[in-house]
Amino acid sequence: MKFQTTHYHLDLLKDTERVSAFFEAIDNYSGNTNLAYDLGCGSGLLSYFLSDKFDEIKSIEIDSKASKCASENLKEFDNIEVVNEDVLNYNFTEKADLIVCEMLDTGLIDEEEVQVLNYARKFLKEDGEIIPNAIINIAELVNMQRHYIHWDENASYEILSNPLDYSKIIFKEEINPYFETDLKFKVNKDKIANGIKITTVCILNDNLVCGPTPMFNPPLLIPIDEINVKCNDLINVKLKYIMGQGIETIETQII
Ligand SMILES: C[S@@+](CC[C@H](N)C(=O)[O-])C[C@H]1O[C@@H](n2cnc3c(N)ncnc32)[C@H](O)[C@@H]1O
Repeated sequence: MKFQTTHYHLDLLKDTERVSAFFEAIDNYSGNTNLAYDLGCGSGLLSYFLSDKFDEIKSIEIDSKASKCASENLKEFDNIEVVNEDVLNYNFTEKADLIVCEMLDTGLIDEEEVQVLNYARKFLKEDGEIIPNAIINIAELVNMQRHYIHWDENASYEILSNPLDYSKIIFKEEINPYFETDLKFKVNKDKIANGIKITTVCILNDNLVCGPTPMFNPPLLIPIDEINVKCNDLINVKLKYIMGQGIETIETQII
């Protein structure tokens, strides 16, 4: 089968670490298998992984080009229905055993994972599961060359503190998108600090964790006001953002 896809979704498919993690998580799933929702199905690869496990799969995708590719790629599967719609407008009529929702990005800040799950979770059976299960966010104080928000690919920066595991978001629980925390960094180098780095680690199931990859939560570098720091200093930074509303909602303040 030749898999049809858009340029963006092809890059996602080429990220073998991401794809194998989702394949393994779906393969390991051992719950009931009547109905699965694949939310943000893209060109349909995760629905394809679900196809031989579930009696029925509903695959919802907002992007019309990607949705067309998914319909074409999955047309031979009688148990899969591809719907071109915003999940937030989709009229769910049945509760599912499994929701697969890969709308992840670093800190869940840019994509709509939180809004989509807060809406769709009502249509998950009580004993149902969500893949992935959760994410963990980690922050580090840095000295970075470019003083604007950017992803760490090809970026130059130096880590100046211990890593702080600052939040865990569990997808089966209602999530407040308005996030705010005080980060307390212990400095381990004398230098000018001018940023923080956020890394998101994804927990697909109890046994499977997928770290950042180029197409899956690449670390994010965020500027803070410049401050001279010395080894063993404690530096407090307030970090605020709205999950699902974009990186322009990020605010930082040294306190
Ligand atoms: C990171 S991609 C993952 C695609 C595919 N599930 C995969 O793993 O290869 C996220 C997908 O979610 C879709 N998406 C984002 N917000 C959506 C929404 N509100 N409703 C439906 N699809 C959405 C995007 O268009 C994109 O195709």
